[in-house]
Amino acid sequence: MSESVDHTQEHATLTLPSGQVVELPVVEGTEKERAVDIAGLRQKTGYITLDDGYTNTGSCESKITFIDGEKGILRYRGYPIQEIAKRCSFIETAQLVIWGELPTPEERSYFSDILTENSALPEDFRRHFAGFPVHAHPMSILSAMINALQSYDLPNMIIDSDEEFQRVAATLISKVRTIAAAAYKSSIGEPIMYPRYDLRYVENFLHMMFSRPYRDYVPSAEATAALNLFLLLHADHEQNCSTSTVRMVASGQANLYASVAAGVCALWGPLHGGANQAVMEMLTLIRDSGMTAQDYLARVKDRSTGIRLMGFGHRVYRSFDPRALLLKDACDKLLNSMNIVDPRLDIARELEEVALADDYFASRKLYPNVDFYSGIILTALGIPTEMFTVVFAIGRMPGWIAHWKEIHDNPASRIYRPRQIYVGSPEREWVNRFQRDKGNTTQGFIIPEELRAKLSS
Ligand code: ACO
Repeated sequence: MSESVDHTQEHATLTLPSGQVVELPVVEGTEKERAVDIAGLRQKTGYITLDDGYTNTGSCESKITFIDGEKGILRYRGYPIQEIAKRCSFIETAQLVIWGELPTPEERSYFSDILTENSALPEDFRRHFAGFPVHAHPMSILSAMINALQSYDLPNMIIDSDEEFQRVAATLISKVRTIAAAAYKSSIGEPIMYPRYDLRYVENFLHMMFSRPYRDYVPSAEATAALNLFLLLHADHEQNCSTSTVRMVASGQANLYASVAAGVCALWGPLHGGANQAVMEMLTLIRDSGMTAQDYLARVKDRSTGIRLMGFGHRVYRSFDPRALLLKDACDKLLNSMNIVDPRLDIARELEEVALADDYFASRKLYPNVDFYSGIILTALGIPTEMFTVVFAIGRMPGWIAHWKEIHDNPASRIYRPRQIYVGSPEREWVNRFQRDKGNTTQGFIIPEELRAKLSS
């Protein structure tokens, strides 16, 4: 363990079934969160710890984000998310998350310049979009294109200086937005738009999403502010599924492009970043089927259905997700400013109210998470449902980059390699191919009945 963690004078004592007693150091973080340092456990005792789903496992030390899930606290580099949401642009937030300090006016202006310089895609790169089938999910396009970008921009990329890192970070933050918009444009058969040098980050994204060669799209100030808020609220969230994936890939010394492309794939699932799409699909289903909030929640509570209330619950937050509170407020403002009446917002409000008063959710400490209201905002901005997780990925890019940097800059960093408890078959005798009977055939492997006779003849 590195020197940054405060090793207290205290120890935890562990007594093993053999009677062996081991003393394990107790470490303490900045906010007095405590951990038992088990790094020497296997060497001293032969035991490992088992924590499926990592509910109790600290995988690293990090200086980027602090969350207190019991109190609903979220801070980037020490600054409360509410302050950042009130005062920062997404790009300032990205600089804070990646480099650890709020940028000076010069740093901010220089970073904006290099983002602009790096916003366009190489001309022949643009042709790759045509290689995807029309209905390809934009998340698959995004991850593939980030990997492809590496071979275009930096064929022999080795980040060996702060300047080089800065350039690559700017390239990724800027181009991920261009790729996302290009993926959307190709999916609807419209020409891919070039970025504009006169527009700021968020406006430029909306321009590339919604302008056409013969007609410029000009977003309202409210739309720009709402998307800016959405992006900065997603900028980092400590060791979540996709960020842990980025760190895992980075720990093997994979480059920044490969590491964040892996993060995009990890983000895709409906229990993680894909939840914003799943929430909107859920609200649409309720609206179209005429179900009430109570009807839907009854289905959720009936465990045999396997249905979850999407946008509710969080591994870390056991009270309100502060991002959800900010987004709920922003959602109201945006819809009012645009004079949009979306019945799905009313359904969401009702689901929230009924669920919060229901013992099923209260006893499990399930509250709305960041995805509960975000889909309504994105829909109001005209962003189609299958692009929601892509927009989340644009927002999360600074966090992934910051975590990659933390691993890259740490000389004591080791490859991530968890252990396991093996519960499969003990060693057994080899069975000859022609002696294998039905009892020995592969479990779960299906051969269609009509082919079985043919294959065995
Ligand atoms: N709806 C209904 N029941 C739920 C929900 C939900 N959304 N979430 C958790 N539960 C129940 C579980 O069934 C379980 O009940 P049990 O103890 O009776 O078996 C209990 O609450 C604990 O749930 P776990 O799955 O153990 O909680 P975990 O911490 O592993 O999962 C997760 C967290 C994945 C976010 C979960 O709450 C969930 O699936 N939520 C819906 C999907 C979602 O909104 N994901 C976005 C999260 S935020 C983000 O990643 C950006």
